[in-house]
Amino acid sequence: MKELEEAVAWLRERTSLSPRVGVVLGSGLGGFASRLTDRLEIPYETIPHWPVSTAEGHAGRLILGRLGELPVAVMAGRVHLYEGYRPDQVVFGVRVLGRLGARALVLTNAAGGINPAFQRGLLVLISDHINLQGANPLVGPNEESLGPRFPDMTEAYSIRLRQIARETAAELGIPVAEGVYAAMLGPSYETPAEIRFLRIIGADLVGMSTVPEVIAARHMGLSVLAISCVTNMAAGLAPGPLSHREVLETGEMVRDRLSRLLEALLPRIAAEVAGS
Ligand code: HPA
Repeated sequence: MKELEEAVAWLRERTSLSPRVGVVLGSGLGGFASRLTDRLEIPYETIPHWPVSTAEGHAGRLILGRLGELPVAVMAGRVHLYEGYRPDQVVFGVRVLGRLGARALVLTNAAGGINPAFQRGLLVLISDHINLQGANPLVGPNEESLGPRFPDMTEAYSIRLRQIARETAAELGIPVAEGVYAAMLGPSYETPAEIRFLRIIGADLVGMSTVPEVIAARHMGLSVLAISCVTNMAAGLAPGPLSHREVLETGEMVRDRLSRLLEALLPRIAAEVAGS
């Protein structure tokens, strides 16, 4: 993949840092990156072939730096299928992180809560997904240098990394739940009937991101942890309409909690996947 190799070569000319863990920060969830030292912040638009996000709340920077000793790469902002990007563009950044050396990927997102036991502001570890986006980043000729034609998705979300996340959250006194994430194309929010359907088929959360990135990361053999922030209860489950403003406001509310969790979590994840 020429574009991928060009972006990786461009970054390698600017830094010798080889991230062990990659992080993707979702809507309104940026902020964690400021905890890194020796930071190199690169606006997406300067990186060859890197797609630039248009959604409000997505800053659009790649940050390379260290958390203590640990080399980390953080994507602050992502692009979505609903912006009109092709699936391979949506996963471009994740593939770059994999090529730079990341062995694990931690994704965060804003999601609507479908499980009635959830509430606004709760952090939920994604245990599995249902892809209803009608797209898959692996469609087309398989790039053998990235991974196999038919990658397994039985344990897309590492059981071990979820266990480490639960333990770390408990130590920090941060409540976390687990649930299944349904990925919709968007950009319109779901109807109440769609949310009832998603509940029946086993979804606890709904969102418009993350799943293409998880598929691309698993294709490359990376271990994945994904954390949703319930920014709102899904359509029909709370009075009144949904708004992007509410999503961003809740994101701001939990940003510090999420940053504290990530800071404690990443070294443990790196230790877990070392040698993999
Ligand atoms: N639906 C889809 N995506 C979302 C939602 C939602 O309710 N909240 C945040 N992202």
